[in-house]
Amino acid sequence: KIYPVILSGGAGTRLWPLSRAALPKQLLPLVSDKTMLQETVRRLAGREGMMAPLVVCGNEHRFLVAEQMREIGVNPLGILLEPVGRNTAPAVAAAAHYLKAIDPQAVMLVLPADHVIQDVDAFYAAIQRAATQVEGGALATFGIVPTAPETGYGYIQSGEALQAEGCFKVAKFVEKPNRETAQGFINSGNFFWNSGMFLFRADAYLKELAQFQPAMAQSSEEAVSKGYRDLDFCRLDEAAFTACPSDSIDYAVMEHTRLAVVVPASIGWNDVGSWSALVDVLEADGNGNVTRGDVYTDHASNCLVRAEGRIVAAIGVQDLVIVETSDAVLVAHKDQVQRVKQVVDHLKANG
Ligand code: GDD
Ligand code: MG
Repeated sequence: KIYPVILSGGAGTRLWPLSRAALPKQLLPLVSDKTMLQETVRRLAGREGMMAPLVVCGNEHRFLVAEQMREIGVNPLGILLEPVGRNTAPAVAAAAHYLKAIDPQAVMLVLPADHVIQDVDAFYAAIQRAATQVEGGALATFGIVPTAPETGYGYIQSGEALQAEGCFKVAKFVEKPNRETAQGFINSGNFFWNSGMFLFRADAYLKELAQFQPAMAQSSEEAVSKGYRDLDFCRLDEAAFTACPSDSIDYAVMEHTRLAVVVPASIGWNDVGSWSALVDVLEADGNGNVTRGDVYTDHASNCLVRAEGRIVAAIGVQDLVIVETSDAVLVAHKDQVQRVKQVVDHLKANG
């Protein structure tokens, strides 16, 4: 039995102006007519051994999340509400405590709500492979073959091959290295990108957390035990969770643990971290344009043009990302879309 735990927090600021604090990217239909969260839940639903999902999200998104689950006819095991964001290590910890109370042997599959996975059968096979490792307490990661020295990812060095096919010990886990370091990892050939998905027993994760981040383990446990049910939701205790230190699972646990295992996975993975990443997973027309909504193009090529409400015409332009929404318009060169994040920082700073 595997319990999917869907992390549906985070702001996705690099997909501004579509992705906003009130409506972040995982709650938007970016790739299909279903939202990223719905796609994540549906991807594995009904596969053998998969239990109903536990969704972890910010309190402010509770009705949207509940409604999106209803829309696809999924009855979640629970929706855990964070009163404040404390990053992924505490979110996963809260989920682990919650699951452990339901099933002391629970194995959890941590899934970010905003990834694209094109080969679901291969993904399911990788999960099965990882599942052979976790009974003994291993923390399994899924490794993606890197294609560029990206600095926004974690890097996993594979070590000794384990008995089960396609499973390796993790020799080293390095979260978000700088460019030179990342390039060095890629040159050495035995590094993978961390996909951000994990499989482990809830109690195994909590044991590692207690060792490396005792304050986090303590406050997340308290946040669950003092939390309460409210309709379909489970509210984490505000005081306890607010007191919890904030950090990602990668820095807080994965860089330190010696129990990590990596399962290399060729699954058509993309974390849709930017407009250019989104272009990579959408189908383009004969001129390389990807358009959504009421869009007119003429002598335009390799552009992403998305119109939410108004008509957008793109003429004689190349390699642009143009996104129109009711209150903001983005026009950016494809090679510079990483800088969209700075727009959000600027807007925040200037009210
Ligand atoms: N519930 C909840 N609460 N979810 C959260 C929170 C939180 O406080 N913070 C982030 N998330 C969700 C995000 O929405 C996203 O789906 C996922 O957790 C990962 O968080 P990111 O903030 O996107 O992490 P990252 O992209 O910097 O790095 C992680 O993912 C990379 C792959 O996409 C790391 O795991 C890297 O090692 C990895 O390579
Ligand atoms: Mg991410």
